[in-house]
Amino acid sequence: MMNKRPIIIDTDPGIDDAVALAIALYSEELDVRLITTVAGNVSLEKVTYNALRLMKFFEKDVPVAAGANRPLIKAPIDASNIHGETGMDGYEFEEPEPNKLLSDHAVNAMHKEIMSSKEPITIVPIGPLTNIALLLRLYPEVTTNIQEIVLMGGSASRGNAGVMAEFNIFADPEAAKIVFNSGIPIVMVGLDVGLKALVYPEDSQKLKDMNKTGNMIFHLFQKYRGGSMKTGLKMYDSSAIAYLLQPSMFEAVDTHVDVELNGTLTAGCTVVDLKGYLGKEVNAKVCIDINPDEFKKWFMESLKKCN
Ligand code: RIB
Ligand code: CA
Repeated sequence: MMNKRPIIIDTDPGIDDAVALAIALYSEELDVRLITTVAGNVSLEKVTYNALRLMKFFEKDVPVAAGANRPLIKAPIDASNIHGETGMDGYEFEEPEPNKLLSDHAVNAMHKEIMSSKEPITIVPIGPLTNIALLLRLYPEVTTNIQEIVLMGGSASRGNAGVMAEFNIFADPEAAKIVFNSGIPIVMVGLDVGLKALVYPEDSQKLKDMNKTGNMIFHLFQKYRGGSMKTGLKMYDSSAIAYLLQPSMFEAVDTHVDVELNGTLTAGCTVVDLKGYLGKEVNAKVCIDINPDEFKKWFMESLKKCN
């Protein structure tokens, strides 16, 4: 029996988060130890409710803990224009099981899981990095048992929330700066690949009759505004899971990344120093390209494994 890779997913579901969670939870290679929620696409209450409804839908008994209800410094923003008012418009989920939410704050739940794990844990943030920054500030000892952080966020080129800023970083740039400067090995799976991790109408139609999860995703996609049915729906968060399971489909470079906090026009930008102008140490592996055909094949095959 192959050892499953232990991971914690920090998420703000979110339609593309829901797809990423499906793939991770049904993968034979990942051991999802804990799911933590963070305000991002919609409010903390809504993303937490969504995470609990997804656990019921997927029939998975993975603990869920709620985290930060706002960024460290900035005023909260949201992406309800992309995911709908509920954060997961388009499908009528059943109510979650009662009392399934851990009483621990997400940061404390992560601390407990990381420090009690026999193997180092990979942290997979697919929302703003508020919880991760708080974890590192409250419990710096966790760095001794974190294998790496594989995050969906940032961009080596242009933004989708600001001219140069990707949403997860733009939502809480101070948190992102703490994470990128933590010294923990980081893989940045940003817009440069997310924009190419596309699902087209013909794929979406295949999902409709694939299985219960595919049908649910098909209905969410009718409301998802991360791209368009015609030009392709952007599977940002699934690209982070794809890196965990099939890194060969990516082109990545080791470089220095920092986060702009004070730029009047560029706050929230991940400054990816590909040419070494800053003369600083490598602190991240940045995904700069993806094979779109390999992604699409992997994506559809992964969802076939779901209920
Ligand atoms: O920029 C894309 C990211 O912002 C994704 O994680 C999406 O869910 C939103 O949180
Ligand atoms: Ca997300």
